[in-house]
Amino acid sequence: MNKTILITGAARRIGKEIALTFSRLDWNIIIHFNSSRIDAENLALEINNTRPNTAKIIQANLDNDDDITRMISECRGMFDSLDVLVNNASSFFPTPIKSASLDDWDNLVGSNLKGPLFLIKGLNDLIARSKGSIINITDTNLSKGVANFSVYSAAKGGLESVTKGLARELGPSITVNAIAPGAMLEPPNVTWDEEHKSKVINNIPLRRMGSEKDIANTVKFLVDAKYITGQVIKVDGGRSL
Ligand SMILES: NC(=O)c1ccc[n+]([C@@H]2O[C@H](COP(=O)([O-])OP(=O)(O)OC[C@H]3O[C@@H](n4cnc5c(N)ncnc54)[C@H](OP(=O)(O)O)[C@@H]3O)[C@@H](O)[C@H]2O)c1
Repeated sequence: MNKTILITGAARRIGKEIALTFSRLDWNIIIHFNSSRIDAENLALEINNTRPNTAKIIQANLDNDDDITRMISECRGMFDSLDVLVNNASSFFPTPIKSASLDDWDNLVGSNLKGPLFLIKGLNDLIARSKGSIINITDTNLSKGVANFSVYSAAKGGLESVTKGLARELGPSITVNAIAPGAMLEPPNVTWDEEHKSKVINNIPLRRMGSEKDIANTVKFLVDAKYITGQVIKVDGGRSL
């Protein structure tokens, strides 16, 4: 029986690469998306063309409690098992303290902390049945503090705390870890000029940006690593040193 992985925010970029990586390993893939329906449908088509009936899509806005409840109930019936949940979806924008609003809080905490926590709550029994894994995607910059991003940082920092607490609470059936990416891709809809790119790269000991594959390979590593739990793996080329 094929194993199944649910990846949130999987229609594009890093989530998409995780989906393609696990599809190549013959896993069933649940592709969650919010607004990128066409990308999600195209990705499912691409996967199903090679491995029929192994990819399904599900839409949910993780800021919305009813969407989370519906998503949990639909995901429970999609395939025979659920082995891995990757909480990858994330909204990301600055919130200088002078202008940070309650809507900003709801948006950033919804996708980066509340959604992941309640997905885990609703799905952990299935994941436990297959002695599976939960992987939360956070951010390497948290440890240093980032000006103008206090709400995003609070949400991702909360997700790291959730990771450690639930590693204790959900063991021994489930491993719970986080991956903290560094500079992998430019933010969505942003193109850095060469000067900015060089500045970023000069702060990275490995002297390059990361890629989607660096994260997908780490997810694969953690899924196989059955004696690692409660850890935050920084995949950042040494940027946080
Ligand atoms: N890219 C980097 O260099 C970098 C650096 C540090 C950390 N990370 C972390 O790595 C992960 C993947 O990064 P990425 O750059 O590939 O992510 P991304 O493109 O910024 O976002 C991934 C997906 O999150 C979904 N999303 C946003 N708000 C949502 C909401 N309210 N409800 C449901 N889904 C929502 C979006 O889905 P739709 O498009 O369907 O709306 C989006 O495609 C994220 O957790 C990010 O914080 C990335």
